[in-house]
Amino acid sequence: MLRVPGGLCLNILVCGGAGYIGAHMVKRLLQEGHEVVVLDNLSTGHREAVGDASLVVADLLDAEKVERTLRTTAFDAVLHFAAMSIVADSMRDPYAYHQNNVVGTLNLLRAMRTVRVDKLIFSSTAAVYGMPRQHVLDEQHPVEPINPYGATKLAVERLLEDASRAYGLSSVSLRYFNAAGADQEGELGESHQPETHLIPNILRSALGMDPALRIFGSDYPTPDGTCVRDYIHVDDLVDGHACALRYLDRNAGVFRFNLGSGEGYSVAQVLEAARRVTGRPISVEVEARRAGDPATLVASRELAGRELGWEPRKSDLDSILSSAWRWHCKPRY
Ligand code: UFG
Repeated sequence: MLRVPGGLCLNILVCGGAGYIGAHMVKRLLQEGHEVVVLDNLSTGHREAVGDASLVVADLLDAEKVERTLRTTAFDAVLHFAAMSIVADSMRDPYAYHQNNVVGTLNLLRAMRTVRVDKLIFSSTAAVYGMPRQHVLDEQHPVEPINPYGATKLAVERLLEDASRAYGLSSVSLRYFNAAGADQEGELGESHQPETHLIPNILRSALGMDPALRIFGSDYPTPDGTCVRDYIHVDDLVDGHACALRYLDRNAGVFRFNLGSGEGYSVAQVLEAARRVTGRPISVEVEARRAGDPATLVASRELAGRELGWEPRKSDLDSILSSAWRWHCKPRY
């Protein structure tokens, strides 16, 4: 995946490597023989998820410890997954989100500059776009976040532009759509407390852990009235990071790409597929719309395909749901 000429292995720092997406990345890097250091404050991540990578338990707000960690190894690149990422929480406590996501990243960037690490892959989000003006969103769509979570991710994207001009930092921001699914072996999965995401919540209901799935709104201007999202398998996101790392080997500057499947599925379609994949009945309760949910969010993946050579391979609903179901039936943490 990340093979470099001469079969060298890379030294990679993964911030947030104990979280859902970061841990899948760490597992892949280790499988490919790279040296991985994870920096994570374990606020939402899980110690068990980092496998054999060395783990530094630290907060990005602890600038000194971040710099010390960066000095331990000659890192080739930093992958930055660490962030608070619940939209509703960000509405309630925007200061915490800006402090953690923006100031924390600034500390990381400063430390990288001090020790001369000049490649970064940043986890951004479709939430930078705000309310979609068209059905399929490409990277040219205006960025007008409607919640503090999206605003913090956009603030970092802009910081990365300034850092590129002033200090020569090269970066790729990957704007994830709806990350979903779990690894093939059932070792890693999505485990949030409380859970707010659709697929884990559907599977919790299938397991009887929740009495029913609450569907937030059935009166949207979509074919069946429920919201349409672009679900992207976490393993495909990992592939996207691998492509981005290779890209930064050949290209200097600041880049942004959507990572989505390019297909939209409604909440009702996901539910129907989950009933089929799990073989379980799943009760539903239709509730009012959730604040801030756009009717439809679907990615154009053309740019990532053309520039990065990235193509999703596992993001059909059945692969996503069956891998997530395996994990939810037997979570390891
Ligand atoms: N939904 C339900 N019931 C649930 C959970 C979700 O009906 O129990 C619905 C939501 O209303 C939404 C859809 O399922 O229509 C998907 O919701 P998620 O919470 O799974 O995901 P979001 O689309 O809200 O959020 C995702 C990412 C965010 C990112 C956002 C971009 O998780 O990090 O996309 O808008 F910011």
